Amino acid sequence: MKNNIVVVDKEKYKVINVSLIMPLSTEELKILPYLNTLFPKTDLFFEITKEKVTIYLREIDLKLFKDKVKELIKMYNLSPVENVFVQIINSIEAIKSYGLKGKKRLYVDYDKERKVKQRKQKEIRRGKFYYALDHNFSRKNNLFPLEYTNKIICGDSEEILKKLPDNCVDLIFTSPPYNFGLEYETHKDEVKWNEYFDKLFAIFKECIRVLKFGGRIVVNVQPLFSDYIPIHHIISNFFMNNKLIWKGEILWDKHNYNCKYTAWGSWKSPSNPYLKYTWEFLEVFCKGDLKHRGDITKADITADEFKKWVYAKWDIAPEKDMNKWGHPAMFPEELTKRVIKMFSFENDVILDPFNGVGTTTKVAKELNRKFLGIDISEEYCKKAEERLMIMGQELVDSKDEIKSGNRSKSNKESKSRALPLFDNVENDKS
Ligand SMILES: C[S@@+](CC[C@H](N)C(=O)[O-])C[C@H]1O[C@@H](n2cnc3c(N)ncnc32)[C@H](O)[C@@H]1O
Repeated sequence: MKNNIVVVDKEKYKVINVSLIMPLSTEELKILPYLNTLFPKTDLFFEITKEKVTIYLREIDLKLFKDKVKELIKMYNLSPVENVFVQIINSIEAIKSYGLKGKKRLYVDYDKERKVKQRKQKEIRRGKFYYALDHNFSRKNNLFPLEYTNKIICGDSEEILKKLPDNCVDLIFTSPPYNFGLEYETHKDEVKWNEYFDKLFAIFKECIRVLKFGGRIVVNVQPLFSDYIPIHHIISNFFMNNKLIWKGEILWDKHNYNCKYTAWGSWKSPSNPYLKYTWEFLEVFCKGDLKHRGDITKADITADEFKKWVYAKWDIAPEKDMNKWGHPAMFPEELTKRVIKMFSFENDVILDPFNGVGTTTKVAKELNRKFLGIDISEEYCKKAEERLMIMGQELVDSKDEIKSGNRSKSNKESKSRALPLFDNVENDKS
């Protein structure tokens, strides 16, 4: 038996022994074999002796397993705390190394990767992120100024950011305008591409300057495929030329399959087929160091979230409340939550230089981070403020409800859901 792994009927299983303090009751002796019939043998099975129950475990939907056990315990009138199933569930939960596939936890072969020998030495010989090694970034980080802390500021980010000191922001998460021609309140979203990039890069230069040594910038971007402009590559080259380390790329799959599949002259012909995309990109860059230093007790990502999210394809529906907030290109809160929890600690400073109606700032506040949101539109800034206020009020209300014992109708439940504005537009942010 290697690492408690055995092979039974050509399948590998992790073996867990649960010692019995007292003999199993008649009910437990009935339920255990019954459980064997509820879950396929290729998931898990039990062997029972007088001294122990042996669990052979390959994979399991732990929630389903717990639900079934709960039902059976109730049906057989067993004590909910003193029974062998509590021991079984506890010992399965105590295993910290597992993979995730859908709702199931995988306990064998989930980490089967092609192993490279002498990986470290080979990396050194190849020269990893060679393009960012000769940077001149100072390692001295500065405090974020109090007058900009937890603020929404209306203005041109290029100008506003100049007022911040170097090295004072932990994480920048943003989605710039994509130059698609969307109807923003103030910003003109349809200029010559070189003009677009000149302005974008002037703002990104400031972003790099204000980012701490070891800080991250995550840029959500979707290329304008119909113009054949790979914005995500152009932006990545910009950051790499400015000595940031490209940490990776997350695919945000929105599954919005409502785009058209035909165009004149391209239907069912190799002459000029037009490729379709249901996803956007999140490009992740680090300044100076891949590691972001912080207090580990302030990491709030759970084990399951971490395992799920480091798999860099995120299936998240587009934002549904764009009508409600009157903004044509919001990203959803779930996307923002994942980025913030994965790349920053509680109390870190989060900046969004294209804050729109404030999704980043709202989620940052919810997650106990400090924040600064900048947008050129006064209207959007007001909405961003409003979202912060509503959130603050919701917190007060829910505290009052808990105090008064009335938890039945939360504000969240009563929120109306508006239809997305841009569902049918190609290359949209919805
Ligand atoms: C894609 S939207 C961001 C939406 C945001 N993520 C949200 O969820 O609400 C881009 C935003 O950039 C703003 N913007 C454009 N040029 C700007 C500039 N120079 N400085 C600051 N904001 C700008 C636009 O007003 C627009 O709201």
